[in-house]
Amino acid sequence: MTTHVAVYPGSFDPVTLGHLDILERATLIFDKLIIAVLENPGKTPLFSVEERVDLIRQSAALDGGVEIGTFNGLTVDYARTCGATAIVRGLRAVSDFENEFQMALMNRRLAPDIHTVFLMTSFSNVFVSSSLIKEVFHYGGNIDEFVPAPVAEAMRRKFGSTAKRAGG
Ligand code: PNS
Repeated sequence: MTTHVAVYPGSFDPVTLGHLDILERATLIFDKLIIAVLENPGKTPLFSVEERVDLIRQSAALDGGVEIGTFNGLTVDYARTCGATAIVRGLRAVSDFENEFQMALMNRRLAPDIHTVFLMTSFSNVFVSSSLIKEVFHYGGNIDEFVPAPVAEAMRRKFGSTAKRAGG
């Protein structure tokens, strides 16, 4: 029997409930799923790669079929080293589409044997993104309903309480 392996790449800075939603859906489709955390995303991440992995480990249901890995370089190269034939990406709204479409086609050009699979997040997560969450938190907004509890705690530990942030 063929084992279907996929990677789910991203910056995960930090992991959100939207990511976990996609992860859960992907586990229903693939035998093995590797959450692939990009070590050095373009802009300096808020959380180190170790912290990002740790937060995923604390937040996601990591049963037998799910692993976490880290990588640098091309996603398709990492997918190959994992024996994956698919790349999972979440799609929220039309605004995601252009960039995702471009990446998927470039990845296909680089590795025609690896297929990008898009999964739709649930309606409640359509507007949830790591960058918006960081912004909302920065300006003192409540992020509890958008991120797993360990992430909310880590944000507070790293940056202090709302009052402290509002005060300077
Ligand atoms: O969570 P993000 O930041 O939307 O994830 C973007 C990611 C990591 C999937 C993308 O930047 C990526 O694949 N980077 C690795 C380098 C690479 O393969 N670039 C070519 C993609 S066409």
